[in-house]
Amino acid sequence: MDPKDSPTQPDRREFITKACALTAGAVAATVPAAAGLFVLLDPLGRKGGGGEPVRVAALEAIPDDGVPRKFSVLATRVDAWNRTPNVPIGAVYLRRAVGGTVQAFNVVCPHAGCFVDYVADAKHYLCPCHNSTFDTEGRIQDPKSPSPRGLDELATEVRDGAVWVKFQNYRAGAKEKLPA
Ligand code: FES
Repeated sequence: MDPKDSPTQPDRREFITKACALTAGAVAATVPAAAGLFVLLDPLGRKGGGGEPVRVAALEAIPDDGVPRKFSVLATRVDAWNRTPNVPIGAVYLRRAVGGTVQAFNVVCPHAGCFVDYVADAKHYLCPCHNSTFDTEGRIQDPKSPSPRGLDELATEVRDGAVWVKFQNYRAGAKEKLPA
């Protein structure tokens, strides 16, 4: 053996050992990080929605006189092993407002989570649990209403003749709209 080589052998071995350990560590850290990213990017958000807009109804299915109509919201649920299409994740009232813009309201009452009904004769939404009422724009109608805020409006877009809604549930009982 060349004596000049001998001092470098331990250094080389140590370097290779450290490089292998670093590579193994990087791989071990990447797998859970990628899984976490996948959960973050899950279109349903796994709880209250909040992902990409979902197609809810054909535009022509919504009356053009401002009267709301209720629709189920279906989406594709993805978990670690399965992809299940058309899973109900909630429901919305859609209405065509003045000027043709489409409004969407989550059907869940912001007070305690009951489902509101639209009462056509009274032209308002009524929560059957504690009688909160909301006008067609989703605002609290009765000042004595126990609901801390108006109905939760959701972002909409009209694309290819259909209404798409960015569905989200919000926490009940809070004055602010806080995602559930
Ligand atoms: S849950 Fe709607 S008013 Fe109480």
